[in-house]
Amino acid sequence: MALDQRRLAYLAAMGIEVWVPRVPSARDLGLAQAPGAEPDAPERWAGTLGWDELEAQVERCTACPLHRGRTHTVFGVGCRSAEWMFIGEAPGEQEDLQGEPFVGRAGQLLNEMIRAIGLSREAVYIANVLKCRPPKNRDPAPEEARACEGYLQNQLALVRPKIIVAVGRIAAQNLLNTATPIGKLRGQVHHYQGIPLVVTYHPAYLLRSLAEKRRAWEDLKLALRTFRHLDR
Ligand code: URA
Repeated sequence: MALDQRRLAYLAAMGIEVWVPRVPSARDLGLAQAPGAEPDAPERWAGTLGWDELEAQVERCTACPLHRGRTHTVFGVGCRSAEWMFIGEAPGEQEDLQGEPFVGRAGQLLNEMIRAIGLSREAVYIANVLKCRPPKNRDPAPEEARACEGYLQNQLALVRPKIIVAVGRIAAQNLLNTATPIGKLRGQVHHYQGIPLVVTYHPAYLLRSLAEKRRAWEDLKLALRTFRHLDR
């Protein structure tokens, strides 16, 4: 199947109508705001651990109480030089058992969302704010997110993505250091350490609220337009 046909099939699976691309203006992209620090400035990436060292450090981490209940740490998966990075909240039951992010039902929908923009799980990098599962999938506590923050920052420094998609309220609020509701964070381009960041709904929420899939698709289109605009 040609790429476009395949993408249409994924969109149909997501219950989404066909999108006709157009060239966005900077205003469409929400780029009027200050972009923050240059992502490629060398000082941004100084003082980071390499992949092996970082992964080993996460595996033996005891920085917060969540380490006591974990089966596995959930580090991240995908292409380590990806242009796109998807950041979720925290491992759930399946992720804790398998040691890989987004492998449950929500993960399957995330895969569909990624494929809908012409990418694959293997072509992007996927990580979470937390590397250990909170008990009963409760929201991460602020001190847990703080304890884990350096790992995610180190991953970002290694991957150096061109764009970040914050998947769900918790990821968005933690990355943007805000308590603003997700409904207000969507629909604009934010920046995390100079990297454009677009917020979308968590696939676990979309599984419960099918009507919001259309909005999620709007978010992905915004991310795609933003990404395409970067190379101009
Ligand atoms: N939800 C998340 O936010 N991350 C996962 O890895 C799984 C479910």
